[in-house]
Amino acid sequence: MKLYVTRRETFSSSHRLFNPQFSEEKNVEVFDKCANPYGHGHNYVLEVIVFGEIDPNTGYVIDLKLLKQILKENVTNKLDHRHLNYEVDFMSGIIPTAENIAVAIWGQLEDKIPAGKLYSVKLYETENNYVEYKGE
Ligand code: NI
Repeated sequence: MKLYVTRRETFSSSHRLFNPQFSEEKNVEVFDKCANPYGHGHNYVLEVIVFGEIDPNTGYVIDLKLLKQILKENVTNKLDHRHLNYEVDFMSGIIPTAENIAVAIWGQLEDKIPAGKLYSVKLYETENNYVEYKGE
């Protein structure tokens, strides 16, 4: 019997979308106002899903208190109130789109889940826009 367990966390970060290899005009064409030089912020919502068997001794797939702690230590404490282009080691050199942030978060978590398996990283950048990465 396998189940999916979800933990939701939030963080607020700033970013600027631009590719240093593009001209200024090309950056504006591709990223529009997201390329504005001083960046802008989002209130991100992160949902992480772990998939696995129920441990008969605890009744848990993974202890959600523990998953919360892992997410805080490895992800949200490092991203919250930071500028993703400049201040986060694991985002260095990456265009901080929701897609790339989700993949980077997966990399932060992949080998740190003590029970079950990391199944999905879902990242909401706005109420209407989100991406989901499943490790492929
Ligand atoms: Ni943005």
